[in-house]
Amino acid sequence: MNKQALIDEILQLKKEKKAVILAHYYQEKDIQDIADFVGDSLELSKKAATTDAEMIVFAGVHFMAETAKILNPEKKVVLPDMNAGCSLADGCNASDFKKWKDQYPGHKVVTYINCSASIKTLSDVVCTSSNAKKIIESFPGDEPILFAPDRNLGNYLKKTTGRNLILWDGSCVVHEAFSFDKLIALYKEYPGAKIVAHPESEAQILQVAHYIGSTSGMLDYIVKSNAETFIVATEAGILYQLAEAAKGKTLIPAPSYEDNACACSECAFMKLNTLEKLYRCIKNGYPEITINEPLRLEALKPIQRMLELS
Ligand code: 13P
Ligand code: SF4
Repeated sequence: MNKQALIDEILQLKKEKKAVILAHYYQEKDIQDIADFVGDSLELSKKAATTDAEMIVFAGVHFMAETAKILNPEKKVVLPDMNAGCSLADGCNASDFKKWKDQYPGHKVVTYINCSASIKTLSDVVCTSSNAKKIIESFPGDEPILFAPDRNLGNYLKKTTGRNLILWDGSCVVHEAFSFDKLIALYKEYPGAKIVAHPESEAQILQVAHYIGSTSGMLDYIVKSNAETFIVATEAGILYQLAEAAKGKTLIPAPSYEDNACACSECAFMKLNTLEKLYRCIKNGYPEITINEPLRLEALKPIQRMLELS
C-alpha cells in the first residue's frame, strides 16, 4: 500500500473504531502528521487521562502506552511495536529496585515516568521532565528522597532544588549521546545561538545550555525567544514540529558522538513505530497493552498523585 492509501485507511479505521492517536514528539513525521495530538510525556498522560475514545493508539514507547492503560483499564490501548522500550525503563528492574529502596528506609520515592508499572507500584509519586522540580518541591525540605531511574535528571534536580536526592544510576542513551566538544565547536560557529537542552542530558551539556526543559518546554522557549538560531539538544524528532511552530528560525540539532547521517541523536526505540505498523495495530487491535488489575491499581496511585500535583 502506498503512503497516501495507508493514511486514508488509518483515518477510516480511526472513525470506525472510535480511536484516538496520541504521538510523542520523537515519532517519525508521518506519524506526527496523522496523530490527533502530539505532545511531551506529561501532556500525553493528561490526554490519556481525559480521552473519551474507545481505543488509544499510543505512538510512543512501552512505558507511555502502559501509563495510558493504567489510567484507562476499560479502553483498548495499542502500541505499534511492542519492542519500543526505553533505556531508562529497561535499566531499572523491579527486584534490583526493591533491594535498592530497602537500603533507605523512611525515604520517599519519586520516579520518573520512564519506568515500568512494577517500579511505579514501589513509588510515592511519579514525575515527568516538565513537572519534576515541582514534584520534588512538594515534599518538606528535610524529607529524604530517592529519585530513579535517570541520574542526569536527578543531578539537575539536586542542583535546582538544593535537595540531597539519592539517585538510581540510569540514563537515556539518546541524551547521553551528545558530544560536548562538538557542541562547543558548533557554538563557536554560531555564537549568537541559544543552546536548549533536555534535562536527561549530561551535566556538562546542561551547564552550557541557555534553556533546560521538557520537549514542550523547549518548543515553547524557542517559539517565544527573540533569538534567531538554536542548537537543540534532544531527540531529533522534535525538529519537525519546531520547523512549523518556529518558522524562519534556524534550528540545528546538537551533534552526537556518532557520525551518523543526521549528525544528531535519534531514539531507536521511538523509531521502531512506523506508519505501516500503526495501520496494522489499529486494524487488528494488536499489539495490545494488558496489565493485571492489582498491579494496575497500585501503579495508578503515584500517577494520580502526579496528576493532582501538576
Ligand atoms: P518529555 O516528553 O517529558 O520531554 O521526555 C522526553 C523523553 O525522553 C521521553 O521518553
Ligand atoms: Fe527512553 Fe531516551 Fe528514548 Fe526517551 S529518548 S524513550 S528516555 S531512550
